[in-house]
Amino acid sequence: MQAIGQTGLCVTLSKNQTGPSYGESGLGNQTTGAATTGANSARQGRSLVVLMIGDIFGKPGRRALARYLPEVRATYGVDFVIANGENAAAGVGITPEVARDLLGAGVDMLTTGNHVWRHKEILSIMEDNRRILRPLNFPPGTPGRGYGVYQTASGARIGVMNLQGRVFMEALDCPFRAADQLLDQVRFGRDVDLWVVDMHAEASSEKMALASHLDGRVTAIFGTHTHVPTADHRVLRQGTGFITDVGMTGCYDSVIGMSAVSVMPRFLTKMPTRFEPAMGEAMLCGALIRADATTGRCLAIAPLRLGNGLAESHSF
Ligand SMILES: [Fe+2]
Ligand SMILES: [Fe+2]
Repeated sequence: MQAIGQTGLCVTLSKNQTGPSYGESGLGNQTTGAATTGANSARQGRSLVVLMIGDIFGKPGRRALARYLPEVRATYGVDFVIANGENAAAGVGITPEVARDLLGAGVDMLTTGNHVWRHKEILSIMEDNRRILRPLNFPPGTPGRGYGVYQTASGARIGVMNLQGRVFMEALDCPFRAADQLLDQVRFGRDVDLWVVDMHAEASSEKMALASHLDGRVTAIFGTHTHVPTADHRVLRQGTGFITDVGMTGCYDSVIGMSAVSVMPRFLTKMPTRFEPAMGEAMLCGALIRADATTGRCLAIAPLRLGNGLAESHSF
């Protein structure tokens, strides 16, 4: 892992280099031709590979990350790794120690979601560490920040926005308007080369609606939160990569990460029970995109599922 500087808006992941200059709103024209699909072509021109890892769940999820991420980074020439860490500490929330472990294991930055404040200790790093985000549309005055700009080793600037949905979830500020305001403020070309969104939400409809709203205005939208990967990864009409949910990095022999034995009484008798994380073998689940840093467009998107639990998929 390279040294991280934290100056101004942009978190530098390596040497400082100047990005390109082009139009300030929306994705540019696609100038690099058809999508490429071979691992060897990943670093040609200004194309970048970004990996989004779904909700890392407890110790099994952290183990799967450590086991598979180095190989994935090398195999696919990954330039930048985002991981959702809201379940990383025993299945609910995240602590500073766990965040540091994940950031030391090859993850470049962490997004979170509705469980972000479960362990209050996380507040101690949320203000100062720009490599961990909480959802942007939390109310004004909430500690931490909802977006960051990160510079890769090649000098590309990647903006990451963390949003949370409102359907079947807590009432929050509008994620659509929060995204609109941020995109007005942090512009393609001028401020970032790619814009990537983690939409942490329950309802597939809300995630698809956000995808429709932001198509052509961000590089990719990755859904998180449900802990179940969807098979609808695609590049939308205006050049935005999208998947409703990238799934959980955790143990699938479970009920969304918790042991079935600890969860079932809640369903069968409505009696309160203490949920315990399932401790079996875990998978790494996420999605890869290849994007053109000159236009901001997504060229290809593919799911990534490695390990035992679900059918594996690594056709990127
Ligand atoms: Fe969540
Ligand atoms: Fe989660």
